[in-house]
Amino acid sequence: MTDATTTGDTPGTNAGSPGKVRVWDPLVRVFHWALVAAFATAWLTAEEVQPVHEFAGYTVAGLVAFRLVWGLVGGRYARFARFVKGPRETLAYLGDMVRGKERRYLGHNPAGAAMIVALLVTLAGTAFTGWLMAEPDPGATRPDMSQIAAPAGTSPARTDDDAGEYGEEGERGEADGTLKEIHEVLANLMLLLVALHVGGVVLASVRHHENLARAMVTGEKRAPGPGDVA
Ligand code: HEM
Ligand code: HEM
Repeated sequence: MTDATTTGDTPGTNAGSPGKVRVWDPLVRVFHWALVAAFATAWLTAEEVQPVHEFAGYTVAGLVAFRLVWGLVGGRYARFARFVKGPRETLAYLGDMVRGKERRYLGHNPAGAAMIVALLVTLAGTAFTGWLMAEPDPGATRPDMSQIAAPAGTSPARTDDDAGEYGEEGERGEADGTLKEIHEVLANLMLLLVALHVGGVVLASVRHHENLARAMVTGEKRAPGPGDVA
């Protein structure tokens, strides 16, 4: 954690194994696998075990918050400023991928980086809409002020139809329904993003002859060769 390879600005060197360099610091690795576990738990418990679902969802939110801070103050391969690229560079990289001549990156490649941003933003949105749904609505227990404040005889007696017109129950139900829909859409979008993410990891692993998933466990990758981006 304290060596220059994980926290400083120099490219990763000096890993324990020969020919390997340390790339992912322990916090990034723990973050990643804890996120996978919390996300999977939130998915599997949705509409099944609500307290576990919410706990897992808040864990996801906490992990994303941590990663945002670590992306600003962490080491070379954790810092957003180092690996998040603009659209031009990202598209150029994707074009190279299609032509099968993309360079090997020791850290996140530009396409992987764009995916990481998409994953973090979508996770934050999913957790945020979940939290909004779970928060008790302060308006739900508020007494009906029109019944209390209006002096007797100044307003016509209300009927059941009026409730529908004013949409008291309906509006709240609708708001919750919309939130739930957004929550679901984001959660489903996450599945698509995760599939693309894992597909990208497998593709890059095959192309560059290294097991990137294992690298996310050990933190080590093959030392950069000529033409690699360190
Ligand atoms: C078992 C399935 C998964 C595998 C094998 C996997 C593997 C990886 C690997 C190898 C990287 C580093 C990519 C690189 O070399 O540039 C990575 C990064 C990342 N993955 Fe996954 N991943 C999996 C599932 C997920 C899921 C489910 C999520 C989100 C819920 C996720 C979110 C991320 C994020 C945010 C990063 C960036 C890591 C960082 O820099 O902090 N991954 N993943
Ligand atoms: C970020 C991780 C999360 C994921 C992947 C996720 C995913 C889901 C999914 C797939 C559903 C089922 C929707 C359906 O089919 O009806 C759901 C429902 C729900 N989630 Fe989440 N969620 C997450 C976080 C949260 C959080 C943080 C909370 C609140 C603290 C929350 C509260 C809820 C509630 C209240 C429902 C509706 C349950 C019902 O009325 O049946 N979720 N979530």
